[in-house]
Amino acid sequence: MQHANENIVVGLDIGTSKICAVVGRQHNDHIEILGIGQSRTSGLRKGFVINIESTVKSIRKAIEGAELISGCSIKNVVVGIADRFMHGQNSNGMVTLKGREVTKNDVQRVIDLTQAVPLLADRRMLHVIPQEFIVDSYDGIENPLGISGERLEARVHLVTAASASVANIVKACGQAELVVDEVIFQPLASAQAVLMPEERDLGVVMIDIGSGTTDIATFRRGTLRHTSVIPVAGNHLTSDLAVGLRVTTSEAEQVKCIHGCCQGDIMDGEPPVELLTTIGVRNRFVSRDSIRNILYCRANEIFTIINRELTCSGFKSNLAAGAVITGGSSRLPGMVKLAEMVLNMPVRVGEPRHISGLADSVCLPQFSTGVGLVLSGFKVKHTPEIQTETLFDKLRLRINCLWG
Ligand SMILES: Nc1ncnc2c1ncn2[C@@H]1O[C@H](COP(=O)(O)OP(=O)(O)OP(=O)(O)O)[C@@H](O)[C@H]1O
Ligand SMILES: [Mg+2]
Repeated sequence: MQHANENIVVGLDIGTSKICAVVGRQHNDHIEILGIGQSRTSGLRKGFVINIESTVKSIRKAIEGAELISGCSIKNVVVGIADRFMHGQNSNGMVTLKGREVTKNDVQRVIDLTQAVPLLADRRMLHVIPQEFIVDSYDGIENPLGISGERLEARVHLVTAASASVANIVKACGQAELVVDEVIFQPLASAQAVLMPEERDLGVVMIDIGSGTTDIATFRRGTLRHTSVIPVAGNHLTSDLAVGLRVTTSEAEQVKCIHGCCQGDIMDGEPPVELLTTIGVRNRFVSRDSIRNILYCRANEIFTIINRELTCSGFKSNLAAGAVITGGSSRLPGMVKLAEMVLNMPVRVGEPRHISGLADSVCLPQFSTGVGLVLSGFKVKHTPEIQTETLFDKLRLRINCLWG
């Protein structure tokens, strides 16, 4: 078995319904997917670890599957995190130059200043993502080193997490005999996998609808502008069906994935769906209209919340490239049409891009985060590290360039 080396990154997506490990190798101009391992999990609720033991077991199973297919022995992973305790906000800072050139030290100081935001004791900084630097009145500068001026400003997007959320994920990985190299906010990883640079320039919102959470990341002029986690997703669609049809959750899940849709006409002559585990009622058949109506209500609610979030963020009117939906729940027929109606913008489904190798196996919306973690892992590896005062546990806090 070959050992993981410089050119290999393993992305570990610890989702609410499944854990998947994706092994990627870097070539000069692309990333090759060498293997993928998956396991179901019940150790998380809405992205938060609630049962360490079962999470550890699921991680081990996914890692062993990925090791078998890739032929690599996995020790280090880049892990994703997204629960309702994550928070994204924009911030800025300024230092004076008095006519001299910007040095590394100035960049370090101005970035440190952007982090001077009130943070509760139980929260930690996860990402500091530069949006742009401004020297005097010249904005939109990506790298200010060597430029002269009177003052240097930095605008950044800060992502903070509950300390316990990160600690539990790192702990579960540790107990699964893995070393966590990086912890990355999941929507940044998914965006890395599914968005095109042109979309990020024009203005786009990436919406990852998983099973426990719906994660959003908004980009404009190539830069991350806004992030948010909404604790409503596929599990709610399933439990609405279970209650509405009076069937078990596992049958509701099956009905949703095989016969479900949330928008559009049902074709004439489509037979009703037979229910196998009907609880307390005699009627064992249900019309496809009824299934659609139940799913429509919840999917409509999800997009309405997203629409409100985008409007409040102030970026709704700047999204010329529209929305890209991904995550397992984006596979529900009718999602694109419903999203277009509610958000009032063009919408497409996003699947992982920029990869070769086992691309066919991972080119599905539910693997966007896993593949994105691999892509982000390589990106972070090649990003200069800047020291800050707020070192989080043993994790390095970097100036991340996850959107480039
Ligand atoms: N064909 C399908 N139609 C409808 N829903 C689907 C389909 N395939 C998968 N799903 C739903 O997608 C969800 C799983 O998506 P995904 O794997 O992206 O979630 P996750 O990463 O485990 O969760 P999260 O990101 O919320 O923590 C489940 O709710 C599942 O029911
Ligand atoms: Mg997910």
